[in-house]
This record gives sequence, C-alpha cells and structure tokens, in this order.
Amino acid sequence: MPVKPWETYRANLSIDLGKHHVPKTFLDKVAFITVKILRIPTDIFFQPKWYERLLVLTVQGVFFNAFFVLYLLSPKLAHRIVGYLEEEAIHSYTEYLRDIDDGKIENVPAPVIAIDYWRLLKDATLKDVITVIRADEAHHRDVNHFASDIHYEGKKLREAPAPLGYH
Ligand SMILES: [Fe+2]
Repeated sequence: MPVKPWETYRANLSIDLGKHHVPKTFLDKVAFITVKILRIPTDIFFQPKWYERLLVLTVQGVFFNAFFVLYLLSPKLAHRIVGYLEEEAIHSYTEYLRDIDDGKIENVPAPVIAIDYWRLLKDATLKDVITVIRADEAHHRDVNHFASDIHYEGKKLREAPAPLGYH
C-alpha cells in the first residue's frame, strides 16, 4: 500500500515564536516603526469587504514597486522590514489560533492539499494548519533578520548563506 504523506513526517514546531530582534541602529528603528505603522490599517480592516479587498490589491501594487525600489537602495533595511513583518505575522496567527480556541472560528478539518504540503496527520484540523504556518513565519523572520545582519556586516548574501538549521 502506498505511504501516505502524514505517515512519513512530523512537523517540527520547536522554533521559538517569541524571539524579537531588538532594533539597535537607526535603520533598525525605521524598519520596526514602519511595520508598526503598517499594522494600523490591518487592524482597522480586519474583516474585509469587497472595497477593502480592492484597497488591499491597490496597496499591494504600490507596495511591490516601493519595496522593489527600497531593496535596490538598502537591502539591509528591506530585509529588516520583512523580519519585523514576519514578527507581526506570528502575532496575527497567534490571534487566529486564539479565535479558534475560543470557538469564534470553527476548527474545520484541514484540506488535503494543506495536509500534503505541510505533511500533517490525516485528521489534521485548521488549527494544525495555522500552527505550522505560524512556525513557517518564524523561520521567515529569522532568515530575513539574518539577511539584514549580513548586509550590516558589508557582506553579500551569496558569500554568507544562512547555515542549515539557522534560527
Ligand atoms: Fe512569511
């Protein structure tokens, strides 16, 4: 009988979710404050209507181009901003999990594509999916803060790839 995805692997959730890169330099503080300001519209538009979705699409169009230019100007600031965005993502998914625990969001069975992609157990639920996504965000946080640190050291990323298992 063929082996099912959930029989081959256990998700590793051991990453520290609470780790925060303390802003040290001026650019770090700019990055941190930028992300904190970006949170304001996110909090206001948490329940999106169609025109709010349109706003998101428009902002994404602006953000993509602005971020592209920013990356050309200062990769260390760009990576630091993404590092802080990922810290916010962890926070958002933690709130999502709390809403599931509180019964505000139904803990429905996970879709098969999510079970396959994240190698979850066959009876996995939405809560399991959100839990592994949140761990992914913690990895994104670490990789981006790492990339910013490398740029701070005046090195290129291709000279200093994140070591395997880097947290
Ligand atoms: Fe992410």
